[in-house]
Amino acid sequence: MFKLYFLIFTIFATILTTNGDDEALVESIGEEFSTENSNARNGKLLWSGFTHPAINMFMNVAETFYGGQGSGKIFDFLRDSYELPGGLSEPYSEYDFIIIGAGSAGCALAERLSKNRNTTVLLMDVGKPEMLFTDIPAMSPYFQSTDYSWDYYMEHQPGVCKGMTNERCYWPRGKAVGGTSVINYMIYTRGRPKDWDRIAADGNYGWSYDDVIKYYVQLEKAYLDGLEKQPHRGTEGDMPVEFVPFKTKLLKTFLEAGTLLGHPTVDYNAPEELGFGPVQVTITRGHRQSAAKVFLHPHKNRRNLHILPETRATKILIDPDTKTAYGVEYVRNKMIHTVHARKEVILSAGPIASPQLLMLSGVGPKDHLNDKGISVIQDLPVGRVLYDHICFPGLVFALNTTDVAFIENKGLTLSEVLEWLRNGDNIFASPGGVEAIGYIKTHVSDDPDPTVPDIELIDIGGSFLSDGGLGGSKAIRRGMRISEALIDEAFGSIDGKDTWSAIPMLLHPKSVGRLELKDSNPFSNPKMIGNYFTVHKDVETFVAAIRHIQRLVQTPPFQQFGAKLYNGHLRTCREFEFDTDEYWECALRTLTATLHHQIATCRMGPENDSLAVLNPELQVRGIKNLRVVDTSIIPRTISAHTNAPGMMIGLKGADIIKHFWNIS
Ligand SMILES: Cc1cc2nc3c(=O)[nH]c(=O)nc-3n(C[C@H](O)[C@H](O)[C@H](O)COP(=O)(O)OP(=O)(O)OC[C@H]3O[C@@H](n4cnc5c(N)ncnc54)[C@H](O)[C@@H]3O)c2cc1C
Ligand SMILES: *[C@@H]1O[C@H](CO)[C@@H](O)[C@H](O)[C@H]1NC(C)=O
Ligand SMILES: *[C@@H]1O[C@H](CO)[C@@H](O)[C@H](O)[C@H]1NC(C)=O
Ligand SMILES: *[C@@H]1O[C@H](CO)[C@@H](O)[C@H](O)[C@H]1NC(C)=O
Repeated sequence: MFKLYFLIFTIFATILTTNGDDEALVESIGEEFSTENSNARNGKLLWSGFTHPAINMFMNVAETFYGGQGSGKIFDFLRDSYELPGGLSEPYSEYDFIIIGAGSAGCALAERLSKNRNTTVLLMDVGKPEMLFTDIPAMSPYFQSTDYSWDYYMEHQPGVCKGMTNERCYWPRGKAVGGTSVINYMIYTRGRPKDWDRIAADGNYGWSYDDVIKYYVQLEKAYLDGLEKQPHRGTEGDMPVEFVPFKTKLLKTFLEAGTLLGHPTVDYNAPEELGFGPVQVTITRGHRQSAAKVFLHPHKNRRNLHILPETRATKILIDPDTKTAYGVEYVRNKMIHTVHARKEVILSAGPIASPQLLMLSGVGPKDHLNDKGISVIQDLPVGRVLYDHICFPGLVFALNTTDVAFIENKGLTLSEVLEWLRNGDNIFASPGGVEAIGYIKTHVSDDPDPTVPDIELIDIGGSFLSDGGLGGSKAIRRGMRISEALIDEAFGSIDGKDTWSAIPMLLHPKSVGRLELKDSNPFSNPKMIGNYFTVHKDVETFVAAIRHIQRLVQTPPFQQFGAKLYNGHLRTCREFEFDTDEYWECALRTLTATLHHQIATCRMGPENDSLAVLNPELQVRGIKNLRVVDTSIIPRTISAHTNAPGMMIGLKGADIIKHFWNIS
């Protein structure tokens, strides 16, 4: 019994330890098992140096709950695997399609392309498969600090991210089979109809709301207390879209306060009107539904779909004379391999790695590539446009209660763990505390269309302090790389207490960033330039949102809990009087957090768009047999988190490709 517990424990420890390649994993399991000397004891559990308390909780449960059920069950409990089908030990040397990146878009694309059993598809990803802990919605913030995340940092920009470690914002991305959908917050948003109609009006034929809605409907298996019966919803798709089974009283409070200020409670994904609504999530029975879970798991046995985890593409092979992509160079088990594509190479490596790989392969801005010593095959504005969705977690209201808000460390008991394993309907099912979404159009918005919001409010049943205090994981602040000293000083006395906040997210930033190569080494991170707040309107919009949230809190629903703006005066803003507009600008520049929706680095566009990398059929301009299918193609800002758009793009991309090659 003890050994069994230890085996599970050690495997978790190994999985969560960085740099574990296959062989190391196998070796250390054997060795640890026999010597009973765990990685955790050696302090190696995580590179970030902290263990989520829920993991400890699970360790205890593993013993009592899974102990007696036989070894088969234990391995279900652990990590997914993707063996090559049909007993193959090596992948083929040639496929019809090679997809680089098994993220939100890549998984959807691979599933649809391999539906026709005559079409061979290779899908590769640097990351590992998911495991039990990644299924726990409440633990999502934690995975930003594990090796399920790329450790990307935005370049230092003076005057923003001042409260972050080394004054640099962290830009995690999922590194997993399932991509960022394995570590994200599972919020399901599609974007306003006008967002897509504007993209189409720019000349991106096939991308209007009427065009894309078809794929959202195809994607969804919605179960939303009857809302799913509306014509714009889908119930027979792949991806569960549901409400969160666990709520605090603050959800009702937020919706009621919204109604009082003229924001109706709606299905916020419905096309008609702006409003507030309970968050819709890609969770079912309390478990995360990643793109891998719905698009790859059920189809693991397809002979024509080969999935290679822990495999890194280093270059797309392009014939410089014919300008035709013909294969991919990749590294697996520390060996360099090449694989050929009969039809196409498709980049689905996400908004950071897709543009990086294009540039490494000779497709990008001519001068920049020359500068890095890369021979240019096609001069294109790769990485020249980058939009992001930044947000502000620092507007926190203290409550006079002790039992209303979400408090992480209260939920972490043995019986709660067992309850989640059985029914998935408790605090563990909460997507990092998010309870509702509200779309607002502030008075400073200059958008002529009344249905296009400028701010999204992310209603939390607590705040970014809810996982702090004694015994809390502090995973949220650590995931954002906020300086802990800064938080302790400003918010120490309410850390881990009952609080409320709505995090405003700027939907349509005017500031535009970009992405460049650092060097020609495929293992280097590229340079990510955020350019946050370089257009002052972005600050004004946030300040208007902050004032709006303060008005919400003045309403009776919030006042029954004595909600009061907490004076967490930040040390970086001492020269400003608290709660003045100047103070909030400084605070925004201190706690400049991102919601990780970087887009447009491989922007699609019509002929006359000088910043376009792709045509609207997602083909790389001037190169044959090469497309990009992921969120980097989105040409302009949308009012949405980007997981659902990513999957939609994967499904639509598959149709475009099948049509092109006349595949049924
Ligand atoms: C912490 C966090 C929270 C988020 N929360 C939400 C949310 O609640 N709701 C929402 O809608 N969106 C959310 N997002 C954003 C959303 O999840 C992503 O925008 C979306 O998943 C991106 O999809 P993608 O297909 O473009 O790329 P990804 O899903 O990022 O997939 C790219 C894949 O390519 C792989 N890859 C990269 N380089 C290589 C290479 N050289 N070789 C092989 N493989 C490679 C990566 O490992 C990765 O698996 C969140 C993002 C983060 C980081
Ligand atoms: C697969 O190819 C065979 C032989 O060319 C053909 O007879 C069959 O109809 C194809 N199947 C599909 C699903 O396209
Ligand atoms: C580009 O062309 C499209 C038609 O393809 C047109 O609708 C759009 O207005 C043009 N944009 C510019 C900037 O000329
Ligand atoms: C909190 O404050 C409100 C408003 O002042 C008051 O009605 C309520 O009784 C207080 N609750 C507690 C637990 O003190």
